Amino acid sequence: MQLSEKSIGELMLHLARLKADNERMTTMQNQTFPTTQNQPTRNKPVISASSLNHYFGEGELRKQALFDINLDIYPGEIVIMTGPSGSGKTTLLTLMGGLRSAQSGSLTILGQEMCGASKQQMVQVRRQIGYIFQAHNLLTFLSAKQNVRMSLELHDEYLSQDMNKMSTDILKAVGLENRIDYYADSLSGGQKQRVAIARALVSHPKIVLADEPTAALDKKSGRDVVEMMQQLAKQQGCTILLVTHDNRILDIADRIVYMEDGRLADNPALRLGE
Ligand SMILES: Nc1ncnc2c1ncn2[C@@H]1O[C@H](COP(=O)(O)OP(=O)(O)O)[C@@H](O)[C@H]1O
Ligand SMILES: [Mg+2]
Repeated sequence: MQLSEKSIGELMLHLARLKADNERMTTMQNQTFPTTQNQPTRNKPVISASSLNHYFGEGELRKQALFDINLDIYPGEIVIMTGPSGSGKTTLLTLMGGLRSAQSGSLTILGQEMCGASKQQMVQVRRQIGYIFQAHNLLTFLSAKQNVRMSLELHDEYLSQDMNKMSTDILKAVGLENRIDYYADSLSGGQKQRVAIARALVSHPKIVLADEPTAALDKKSGRDVVEMMQQLAKQQGCTILLVTHDNRILDIADRIVYMEDGRLADNPALRLGE
């Protein structure tokens, strides 16, 4: 589906309204259930950043990249983060994936506080997250199935299961039933990105983080891969945080957040006319 700028505008306004409604409901529920143990679990964020700051460099070269980030992401939500290049999206995404140490403020991922977390705690968190990057990062000397299987082998709980079948099944789910034993090198861009999705989702992660996953793809393949991510994630109940410049995929989001100069804007709809 091709969206005009106007319909994207309406969509974003609609999403902003939904978000406001959602926040009102959450506030009401919090008032009704003031103790955390009474709150329904669906209200507990899987990722929660509060007053999060991030700096690169040291001494005179120290530069702040993120300023006072506050963002809660809930189970099963698909959140899209947009914003200009250099605004801090990848920095925030890698922090939220436990790929970079959190420095100041608070960041909880799946209940683990990441500020001051040990290497071991970070690794523990990473195991529960699937990553999809702009460059698919497949191992070119392995087949599609071997690439997917490798990510399962990192999880002790799957070692006793039929990992070949699990890998084959998920490759079928992303429409690659005819490419299972092809070397990654011999696949098209869109096919490689679908292998990357299969690899990220095969272990049923609670969270999937994707950084510009459609950037290297043409319009149709870009659309296909995000729809596939959306479908698989909804089936598995996982949460997606996706960074993109690609206006054509904004409609798969439950919520859109906007980053500018290291700060999250409250209301992305307000930015639309710029
Ligand atoms: N490893 C790094 N060392 C120093 N500065 C960095 C590093 N990574 C990112 N930055 C800076 O942080 C800011 C945000 O970058 P980034 O998160 O990559 O933005 P985006 O993903 O929105 O394009 C930029 O000014 C960038 O130059
Ligand atoms: Mg980036």
